[in-house]
Amino acid sequence: VFADRTEACRTLAVGLAELVSSINASGRPAVLGLATGRTPLPFYAELIRLHREGQLSFANVITFNLDEYLGLPGGHPESYRAFMQRELFAHVDIPLGNVHIPDGSVTDIPAHCTAYEKAIRDAGGIDFQLLGIGRTGHIGFNEPGSPRDSRTRQVHLDPITREDAAPSFGGLEHVPTHAISMGCGTILEARKIALLAWGKAKAFIVKEALTGPVTDQVSASFLQNHPDATFYLDAEAGAEL
Ligand code: F6R
Repeated sequence: VFADRTEACRTLAVGLAELVSSINASGRPAVLGLATGRTPLPFYAELIRLHREGQLSFANVITFNLDEYLGLPGGHPESYRAFMQRELFAHVDIPLGNVHIPDGSVTDIPAHCTAYEKAIRDAGGIDFQLLGIGRTGHIGFNEPGSPRDSRTRQVHLDPITREDAAPSFGGLEHVPTHAISMGCGTILEARKIALLAWGKAKAFIVKEALTGPVTDQVSASFLQNHPDATFYLDAEAGAEL
């Protein structure tokens, strides 16, 4: 638990820069799993700062995003592809061919999901996975009831999740009902995981995830059994611990 989100993000960003450079020094690309939403914004700002200061290069980094909305028209500003470009990729030296984000416009969704899982495996698996947490306890878009061993697939968004997204879409009626998301099993295979949460709206679900039962009703609770998962919280999100 950090005094504020800036301090939490600085600490994690420095740690990630060290991880990327040590993996690169061992002669292979670093594979990062990335998240969208409001939570990672200050973290991406720190990564961009480290990049500008010459302390972090994405030249030998491969990324896989957690999820993407289904059914948004191409180039929609709320698509996660547009978000990642705007908030991170446009500001760093990542080769665009190294970026993977589920495609919310595909027609054969199961084939796309299978190919996404294969691309992660072919890259050697995820070294570091960044997560936020939804008020439903979701990681990725693994809403309550998502099995521990679920893989990348089409998911139905919980009404609470859609309500939380409504302001950015200009109203609930514009929020997609479905998404493609990495599964809990996909996420839990990452070698190192960091979950970020800020603000008092997340305090209750953070407590459930960390200290409640391990249950598919709170996907983030599966992290209790991961060998290297850390929660980075501000004082408000950690207030109920
Ligand atoms: C985003 C994602 C979600 C969000 C979660 C929190 O790629 O997979 O799990 O991390 O919904 O969203 P924010 O950060 O907007 O509160």
